[in-house]
Amino acid sequence: MQSRNDNATSETVVLSTDAAGLASAAEVLRAGGLIAFPTETVYGLGADARQSDAVAGIFAAKGRPSFNPLIVHVADLAAAEALVTFTPQAYRLAQAFWPGALTLVLPLRAGSGVSSLVTAGLATLAVRVPDHPVAQGLLRAFGGPVAAPSANPSGRISPTTPAHVLTGLNGRIAGIVDGGACGVGVESTIVDVTGDPVLLRAGGIPAEVLAEALGAPLAHPSAEGTIAAPGMMASHYAPQGAVRLNATAALPGEVLLGFGAVAGDLTLSRSGDLREAAANLFDCLHRLDAMAATAIAVAPVPNHGLGAAINDRLRRAAAPRD
Ligand code: TXA
Ligand code: MG
Repeated sequence: MQSRNDNATSETVVLSTDAAGLASAAEVLRAGGLIAFPTETVYGLGADARQSDAVAGIFAAKGRPSFNPLIVHVADLAAAEALVTFTPQAYRLAQAFWPGALTLVLPLRAGSGVSSLVTAGLATLAVRVPDHPVAQGLLRAFGGPVAAPSANPSGRISPTTPAHVLTGLNGRIAGIVDGGACGVGVESTIVDVTGDPVLLRAGGIPAEVLAEALGAPLAHPSAEGTIAAPGMMASHYAPQGAVRLNATAALPGEVLLGFGAVAGDLTLSRSGDLREAAANLFDCLHRLDAMAATAIAVAPVPNHGLGAAINDRLRRAAAPRD
């Protein structure tokens, strides 16, 4: 059977962030279509989390392996409580950081209505309440849970502008809500709170900040954490060119991505500001692609605070590819 999301040749409609634009976007979601929308971290590629056909469309549009589960976005804590069972630690983190760049992995409730394609069959669900007026407006106009991975072809650079989304997915999705550039620039921090909190992915809220709210450091997943964090493939966020890390100067033929004192051909942050570097990271990688850079050298970035998320993405960008 032909699904609504199969038509790879149809136009992707650019929608505005006003009430009419959000109402159109919500209508597309209700009809089982795919809508890219801004969050404070990166653009998400949304579908109704309760419609398996629609969720299947996300995996098809991204070329994403179906064993990699999706994050469900909801408008508030009450909506999240309808989907998952909260633990005391989860409440503590949600109260401190939602809405915000934090995703909580919790036991899925029976009768949540969420398609098993979203969880890839796991007994847990990743949920988050985004802190972006357009994401909030869309979630409220739609009135249900929205499954949304980052709006990029699987394994490629995450999108922080509408142009990035269209570069990767134009013609493969029904629409995009144009909310301009994302402020945080790296994806949400993911914490498994089914038991003692475990950091599954460094992200927009630094682990140190979460630990302070919890009153204890976060555990890190075991070396064989492939089940806990099924989507954390080594090679990801990959630009076209080869990536060399911790470079203080370019070798012949390389384009240098700078930070702080290492000026570079382009820079994550001239002043060495990690917040600015996170916000610029994916746009710099997209620009390197647009320049057709075949060899990319990247300056060292300190590993504290948001630097942990930046370095995680850079390591994956530099990882050997299939
Ligand atoms: O900031 C973000 O989190 C963005 C915006 C759109 O919200 N979304 C995002 O989604 O980064 P995605 O699909 O690119 O990354 C989701 C990650 C994957 O690594 C996936 O494996 C993990 O979340 N994940 C999803 N459900 C999980 C679960 N039940 N247990 C463990 N990891 C899970
Ligand atoms: Mg992603």
